[in-house]
Amino acid sequence: MISQYGFPGARTYEDKFFRADEMRPNVFKISQPWFKEGELLVYCFLIIGEKAALVYDSMFGYGNLRKFCESITDLPLILVDSHFHGDHAAGNFDFDSCYIHPYDMPGIYRSFANSREDLLARAKATAVPEFADEITIDDICFPKPMKTYPIYDGDVFDLGGRCLEVIHVGGHSPGSIMLLDHENHLGFSGDTCNNDTIVRGLPGDPIEVYLEGMRHLAEHTGDIETLFGGHEDFPATIIGEMIELLEKVVAGTDDRAEYTVPFPPGSQSTVTFGAAMKSFYRRVDGKDANVQYSPDYIKKEARGPRILDGSEPGAYRP
Ligand SMILES: [Fe+2]
Ligand SMILES: [Fe+2]
Repeated sequence: MISQYGFPGARTYEDKFFRADEMRPNVFKISQPWFKEGELLVYCFLIIGEKAALVYDSMFGYGNLRKFCESITDLPLILVDSHFHGDHAAGNFDFDSCYIHPYDMPGIYRSFANSREDLLARAKATAVPEFADEITIDDICFPKPMKTYPIYDGDVFDLGGRCLEVIHVGGHSPGSIMLLDHENHLGFSGDTCNNDTIVRGLPGDPIEVYLEGMRHLAEHTGDIETLFGGHEDFPATIIGEMIELLEKVVAGTDDRAEYTVPFPPGSQSTVTFGAAMKSFYRRVDGKDANVQYSPDYIKKEARGPRILDGSEPGAYRP
């Protein structure tokens, strides 16, 4: 776990909906400080080069993230989604275009809510009381057709003076991707590898597929020191810990500890974790990596085909 940190002279920007803290030179972590305590916090990142700036994830769609980023930099913005989930990609539709792995492409059109009004109600329920009345329907970003470009493992975004390599790690979602900044020893990880990595349904991939992805990632992260995550940041040692844990899950020798968690939002479910915890989400042995999984969704063969039946914009796996 890494606590909030910056460096001497680090800049901070704020508007009504967003706050950007400069974690490293020209790397801003964007948050929404008006959330009530206990709500799921999500972070996105603005990474500024010499000729373009990259926005990694677009959050819940509460407020206009594009306008906020444009208040920080005049450079062209490249929006890249870590994956399709509604806490990371719902703000896409205020941008002109986005880059996302093809497996996750249909999912961006599936919001966390059924209508813009429902998403507004959700934003208000998330906010501290004094801020709830400030949010109006015009502040809510909702799906509409947008230019969506595929990205693949090994692609490189060249921002001018800073390059970011795309690494595909299916698991949490089939099209989850990390971005690696080798020169500055940084990774941007979304929900791909953390202390509560959800790899069950949603739809995601079986543990064996996730393990393959993490082994592939580890081949590229020898020079990476820090992972800036979508919900929390970690030292890159979490990658090796996750591989070790997933190998135990596949072998059936992990802790297989059951906990009741407040997920999906607004409800509770009892789920299996690979490593036993002393408190949410802190492992008994002090390591960072942990995974939520379904014991019947470990083997590669458990993954069915993607089904596209035209009934909704999202392809899904049963
Ligand atoms: Fe996610
Ligand atoms: Fe998330």
